[in-house]
Amino acid sequence: MAARLAADLEAKFDDTVCGIFLETVQGEGGIYPVSEEFWNRARALATQHGALLIADEIQCGLGRTGRYFAYQKFPSRPDIVLIAKPLAAGLPLGAILTTEAVASRVSPGMHGTTFGGGPLACAVALEFLEIVEDEKLLENIRARGAELREGLGKLASRFNFIREIRGEGLMIGVELSVEGAPFVSEAMQRGLLINYTHDFTVRLLPPFVITRAQVREFLRIFELVLATTSQQASASDSGKSANPGRVAQAAAR
Ligand SMILES: Cc1ncc(COP(=O)(O)O)c(C=O)c1O
Repeated sequence: MAARLAADLEAKFDDTVCGIFLETVQGEGGIYPVSEEFWNRARALATQHGALLIADEIQCGLGRTGRYFAYQKFPSRPDIVLIAKPLAAGLPLGAILTTEAVASRVSPGMHGTTFGGGPLACAVALEFLEIVEDEKLLENIRARGAELREGLGKLASRFNFIREIRGEGLMIGVELSVEGAPFVSEAMQRGLLINYTHDFTVRLLPPFVITRAQVREFLRIFELVLATTSQQASASDSGKSANPGRVAQAAAR
């Protein structure tokens, strides 16, 4: 699959391409990491054709995967990295990181926005970066992420509608063979805020400061959510409101 996609990219690339955006781990897309093969080919093609490789790390960057940048597991770097979400800990702030070569082409004012670089948001961002270092949050993200995936793996062996656990650090996708929406609603009733993307993938993006006790509590409640929701679904399936089309569609993916 990775080889086919990389070959397809190569076939489409030429000197008219000025840049290629890759989301290093697709978030809304269902927690799918870009493969090393595709990344390397994109890097090589961008260099060969004078294009820029731009990593969208708005969701997966700044520690989410247990590294400052998700792309750091690859041997080569992008020319531009986009970051935002956790940067100012909830205040609106995004940033563009570039190489010297790109930065030297941009002068002050060229990339301005009305609220860009506001002192309050920037002060919070500096504090956020300091806290990530001081509180060793990358280690916490890796350790808690491993605990979560281990616990979810056990749940997957109990609930056969869990098809796959994907992701790294605290960016986790739980792919189901049934729709995720009822699980998300049941979780909310029980005080858990989770989400789903692409109908069948429950997406977990817990805060970087999550503790071991909170991971255990999450797993305990999530198990109840899985059990309750699947019981409700099978009760309604045995009635007339079953939706076999949706389930069949999921099973075919
Ligand atoms: C990976 C990624 N890129 C870009 C965006 C868009 O950011 P904004 O909402 O600031 O337009 C999002 C938003 O969820 C995102 O997850």
